Amino acid sequence: MACTLNFYGHFALGLEIDGLFVLVDPFFTGNPAATNSAADFDQVDYILVTHGHGDHVGDTVELAKRTGATVIANFEVCNWLQSQGVEKVHAQHIGGAHDHAFGNLKLTIAHHGSSMPDGSYGGNPAGLLIKAKTGEKLYVSGDTGLFYDMTLIGEVGLDLAVIPIGDNFTMGPDDALRAVKFLKPKTVVPAHFGTWPIIDADAESWAARVEKQTETKVAVMKAGDSLVV
Ligand code: NI
Ligand code: MN
Repeated sequence: MACTLNFYGHFALGLEIDGLFVLVDPFFTGNPAATNSAADFDQVDYILVTHGHGDHVGDTVELAKRTGATVIANFEVCNWLQSQGVEKVHAQHIGGAHDHAFGNLKLTIAHHGSSMPDGSYGGNPAGLLIKAKTGEKLYVSGDTGLFYDMTLIGEVGLDLAVIPIGDNFTMGPDDALRAVKFLKPKTVVPAHFGTWPIIDADAESWAARVEKQTETKVAVMKAGDSLVV
């Protein structure tokens, strides 16, 4: 079996897993990189939110209310979403895993911040380690700097990793290359770059470096691209 990753620009992703549709960090409104709008999505089963920043929470509140999707995030982000009228939330926290209909999800550490768009407390930022029901193992780091424990995350044998390369707010290209060496995924997708000038990065030259120095394949995705994992 296989699952499909859809890239919507910046760090917004869609996963198609065994007939279920899972959005990750659904930032469409105000996302200069997005070619979709939130209104394009009618059937959403789950929304995963890595942390509270606006470019990741994005359109979560509107999408969850309209589609009835269950939102999974850390406890503090879930509390805030409930205060905004989102009814179906599932709170987890760093190191905790849970079996959902799409597969097993564990929240991992991320070195970053997590304040909500209105400034309220958003707990600790997280990465997502997903063992899809279809068998693939995926790691979506969220916004983070490099950390050596990526080695532990990679021990599961990753089919895919999505990591930032845009620098300034997250890992830049050099640390993202080191991250690939720690994670050892079959395929890596660079994200969180090019959306604004401050996070510009040359993904093609980064891809060439990764493929020269590691066994990992790089999939540079544009908004609207899909990848069978
Ligand atoms: Ni952030
Ligand atoms: Mn971000």
